[in-house]
Amino acid sequence: MICASDALEEKGRGVRFSIDYHGHSAPAFVVRFEGAVHGYLNRCSHVPMELDWTEGEFFDSTRRDLLCSTHGAAYETTTGRCVWGPCRNTPLVKLNLAEREGAVYCEGLQDE
Ligand code: FES
Repeated sequence: MICASDALEEKGRGVRFSIDYHGHSAPAFVVRFEGAVHGYLNRCSHVPMELDWTEGEFFDSTRRDLLCSTHGAAYETTTGRCVWGPCRNTPLVKLNLAEREGAVYCEGLQDE
């Protein structure tokens, strides 16, 4: 379990956690957007930096896209697709998530 469902407010702060990624612990996060939970490895595709500008703050000022605090790359929240900036065409690594009985679970990564 990552967190309780009600820990994620619509377009609010994300919840950070760690995930096993190819045998190593890697930072990851989940946010709620348009009712659904979306999650990614917390690693920009430009340079492998964490995205959030203060802990858990992933959204841009419009609360629509996910923003990398280092050089400003923007990613589509629902897909992780790069929509602006130095990420070019490389998306975030998306998590497979499930939400049931009031909790959010990670069920792996979409690139595995
Ligand atoms: S490290 Fe994210 S835009 Fe450069």
